[in-house]
Amino acid sequence: SKGEYRHYMLKEIFEQPEVIEAVLEGRLSAGSVLVESFGPDAQALFQRARQIHVIACGTSFHAGLVARYWLERYAGVPVQVEVASEYRYRHPVVPEGTLFVALSQSGETADTLAALRFAKTLGYIGSLAICNVPGSSLVRESDVALMTRAGPEIGVASTKAFTTQLVALMLLTLAVAKVQRGDDHRDIVEVLGTLPGLCRQVLALNGQIEALSQAFAEKQHALFLGRGAHYPVALEGALKLKEISYIHAEAYPAGELKHGPLALVDSEMPVISVAPNDDLLEKLKSNLQEVRARGGQLFVFADENVDITGQEGIQVLTLPYVHEALAPLLYTLPLQLLSYHVAVLKGTDVDQPRNLAKSVTVE
Ligand code: F6R
Repeated sequence: SKGEYRHYMLKEIFEQPEVIEAVLEGRLSAGSVLVESFGPDAQALFQRARQIHVIACGTSFHAGLVARYWLERYAGVPVQVEVASEYRYRHPVVPEGTLFVALSQSGETADTLAALRFAKTLGYIGSLAICNVPGSSLVRESDVALMTRAGPEIGVASTKAFTTQLVALMLLTLAVAKVQRGDDHRDIVEVLGTLPGLCRQVLALNGQIEALSQAFAEKQHALFLGRGAHYPVALEGALKLKEISYIHAEAYPAGELKHGPLALVDSEMPVISVAPNDDLLEKLKSNLQEVRARGGQLFVFADENVDITGQEGIQVLTLPYVHEALAPLLYTLPLQLLSYHVAVLKGTDVDQPRNLAKSVTVE
C-alpha cells in the first residue's frame, strides 16, 4: 500500500535509504567488499574479465553508463555500455576475456533477455545479471546474479530500482578491483556505509524541491546538464521528467553545449545542472556561464562546499558533501523529486504514465 504517501513513486523515492542499506547487507566486511557474496563462481569470473560489456534498457541503461565511469576509474577495466535493442541486432565483436553484464529491474525485459541469449553464442567468459526480481528469467539464465533487493517497485517510473542498481554496480566495481588489483578502495567502502544517512539528508530537501518545481509546470522543454559520471545522472533526470510530466527534456554532457544545444537556450528554457564538487567543476561552471549569458534560467544542484551562489536567474540547492565516487547516487534523488512534483502540479497520472508499461515483455 501507499501508506501515508500520495503516490507509489513518492513512497519508493523515500524508501531509498532503507533499500540501499538492504543491498549492502552482508556484502561488505572489514573495509572491503565480500566477493563471495556474488556467488561461488564470481571470483574466478572476475579474475578473467579483461573487459566488460553492459547491456540494459531505459533507466537500467543509465545505471550501466554510470558504472562505466566507475569500472574504468576504480578497477581499470574497459567497459562498453549499450541499449539491448541495438546490441542484439548488431554484430558485436567480443574480445577474448569479456564479461557480459545485463542490468534489469524486472528481469523480464524482452530485449535484455534476448541480448543475454544472443551473448551466449558469442564467446563471452560468462554472464552476470544485476536484477531486482529473484527467480526472473534473467536471473535463471545468467551464470552469476546479484540481487538489488529494492523490493517491489509499483510506480512505472523507476526510482529505487535505479539507485540500488548503482549500489550493486559499485559493489561490482569494488569486487573487480579487489580480485584483479588487490585494491580494497577502503575510502569508498567506508562512505557506502554512510550513504543511507546522506540520502535521508537529501530527501529532507523535498519541500525546497517542491517549491522549485513550480518554475517548470508551464514549460514545454527542459535541458539537463552534467559532466563525467553525472552525465548519465542528467540523462536519468531528463527521462524521469519526460515520462511522468510529459515535458520534453534532453540531457547533454555540459561540454557539448556549444556544439549545438546552446542554440535552444533562451529565457524560456530551464536548465538543470548537477554540480558536485569534483574535478570537472570548473569546466561545468564555465558551461553554466554560457547558459546565463543567453538568458537561460539555471537550476543548480551543488555540493555545499561549492562556490556557486544564487543570483538573478540562478537558483542553487545545496546537497551535503559526499565522496565523489558516490555523488551520482546522491544527485539522482533531487532529480527524482523534481520530476515527481512537476508531474503532480501538471496533474498527470504519476504512477501510471500514459503509453508506458512497467515491464516491457514484448519487443
Ligand atoms: C524508466 C523505466 C524504464 C525501465 C526499462 C527497463 O523509468 O522504468 O525505462 O528502466 O523498461 O526495465 P528493466 O530494468 O525491468 O529491464
